[in-house]
Amino acid sequence: MAKFKVLAMDDVAPEGLEPLYKESDIEVVIGTKMTEDELSAVIGEYDAMIVRSATKVTPKVLENASKLKIVGRAGVGVDNIDLDAATQHGVLVVNAPDGNTIAATEQTVALMLSLARNIPQAATKLKNGTWDKNSFVGVELRGKKLGIIGLGRIGSAVARRAQALEMDIIGYDPYISAEKAADMGIKLATLEELLKTADFITVHMPKTKETSNMLNEQAFAVMKDGVRIINCARGGIIDEAVLYKYMKSGKVAGAALDVFEKEPTTESPLFELNNFIATPHLGASTEEAQLNVAIDVAKEIVNALHDDVVHNT
Ligand code: NAD
Ligand code: MLT
Repeated sequence: MAKFKVLAMDDVAPEGLEPLYKESDIEVVIGTKMTEDELSAVIGEYDAMIVRSATKVTPKVLENASKLKIVGRAGVGVDNIDLDAATQHGVLVVNAPDGNTIAATEQTVALMLSLARNIPQAATKLKNGTWDKNSFVGVELRGKKLGIIGLGRIGSAVARRAQALEMDIIGYDPYISAEKAADMGIKLATLEELLKTADFITVHMPKTKETSNMLNEQAFAVMKDGVRIINCARGGIIDEAVLYKYMKSGKVAGAALDVFEKEPTTESPLFELNNFIATPHLGASTEEAQLNVAIDVAKEIVNALHDDVVHNT
């Protein structure tokens, strides 16, 4: 009989759970969508849980998790897990920081190109029966200044791809040195300088108290006229109401959001704007990334349950 029970939520890639299935002392249960109360009622049976972003690991869930040793987040952001409550209950939280870097990077570049060339809008119009060659004159990326806020895994990978597109890159990240940025071919700047000079701005930091609504009224007010904005990091880093205001005024020429303050979201004033592009949090949605992150957290869970070293805490 299995000694440990693992609850895998949020449609985590089944093939990625192989490291757990290989262990004779581990049983895996595939969970379906549950309310906080439903999850709280069953969590006491489990030694480990895997989540993506849909399941919220709240203080109430953790209070009822008498056997839970570890929560594995199959992805980067752990903002759906109450870290203070997890610490209080002695529950380890691990993530999979590397597995979806390329997926989110490529989504960011795809959104930037879509913004520059109005690809979703032109495709929708043509598929609705109109051959419109006049409304969709775009801009080239070559020679444009790309401002990258947050120069970690994804921000730096976006920079490498933007260099191949011959963009001029400026970055802001208070936690990296100018030398390290220069090694990546990025000019490190103040946030103000970046906001004032960039033609495209993309954000790649975690959502924290410091970064919530970082692109707010003051930030938009100093941006260059005609700026284009991308958020493939976390909803709420950009204030959506302020973005709407500056898109309406014409100061912001286009914006693409993969992530929203409230998710899922199916209605927003932004959706009425022709120069607004939206995707439903697809940054990590590639076959490769979902497999990578599931394997990474599954291995961490095997280690934790067998009292071996756990890495991405
Ligand atoms: P990372 O930890 O490698 O990099 C984050 C960077 O942000 C770090 O260099 C850090 O120094 C910097 N940073 C922190 N606070 C900052 C601040 N106040 N101003 C500027 N920079 C700041 O993370 P990552 O793997 O590159 O992920 C970046 C973001 O993308 C995270 O929010 C993550 O959750 C998100 N993400 C989204 C998707 C998606 O599906 N859309 C997929 C993967 C990751
Ligand atoms: C992440 O933080 O890894 C991404 O937002 C993708 C996800 O939520 O799965």
